Amino acid sequence: MRWWSERVVPRINDSSLGSVEVGELRDRACAGLRGTVVELGFGSGLNIGHYPAEVTSVVAVEPSDVHWARSQDARASSPVPVTRAGSDAAHLTQPDASADGVLSSFSLCVIPEIESAMREVVRVLKPGGSFHFVEHGLSPDLRVQTWQRRLQPLNGALQDGCHITRPIADLVSATTLDVEQIDTFYLPGPAFTRPMACITLGRARKTS
Ligand SMILES: C[S@@+](CC[C@H](N)C(=O)[O-])C[C@H]1O[C@@H](n2cnc3c(N)ncnc32)[C@H](O)[C@@H]1O
Repeated sequence: MRWWSERVVPRINDSSLGSVEVGELRDRACAGLRGTVVELGFGSGLNIGHYPAEVTSVVAVEPSDVHWARSQDARASSPVPVTRAGSDAAHLTQPDASADGVLSSFSLCVIPEIESAMREVVRVLKPGGSFHFVEHGLSPDLRVQTWQRRLQPLNGALQDGCHITRPIADLVSATTLDVEQIDTFYLPGPAFTRPMACITLGRARKTS
């Protein structure tokens, strides 16, 4: 499976998540970020180019050396300095209250200890800082949920532990962050793609 994880999964990710359409979602998710931003699951750096000018540095949390190497060209052309610090969103190396923003795009689906990761987001944010996210996850439609649960074992096996059954809005709402905006919708496409295409996009702020 190592060959699959290192050779195939990164390419699938880059081709499915590198589209113009997903780029527009990245613009929406990154809007309003500023200062120092911790990015969970940096991948191959597909958010570079979408950060607003107010972002002054990006701290990348990325366990995979393969993904990190694939981000080299993007990092080299980045207007914002990017450093790699830590490999697990559930155990961030950043001090308490040190980040102006935390960004997660299509990473909450794959982090094994997701509740710990959500606690870490709250811990590292400064008061007034915000968590921005664009994720795929559990649909609010029961019929689609049924298919997501049926397909999850195959999806998890093929996509390196990715979950299409995580209730993203609930995970964010369960933290002490104040949810300021949250939209759930499907990517355009035929109905049969909906189990894979339910997007939750929003932001939540640490008020104290
Ligand atoms: C589907 S990719 C998304 C990459 C990128 N965020 C994007 O939007 O293109 C998921 C990323 O999460 C990373 N990842 C996996 N487990 C993680 C963990 N425990 N903590 C942080 N990132 C993790 C993977 O290596 C991969 O780069």
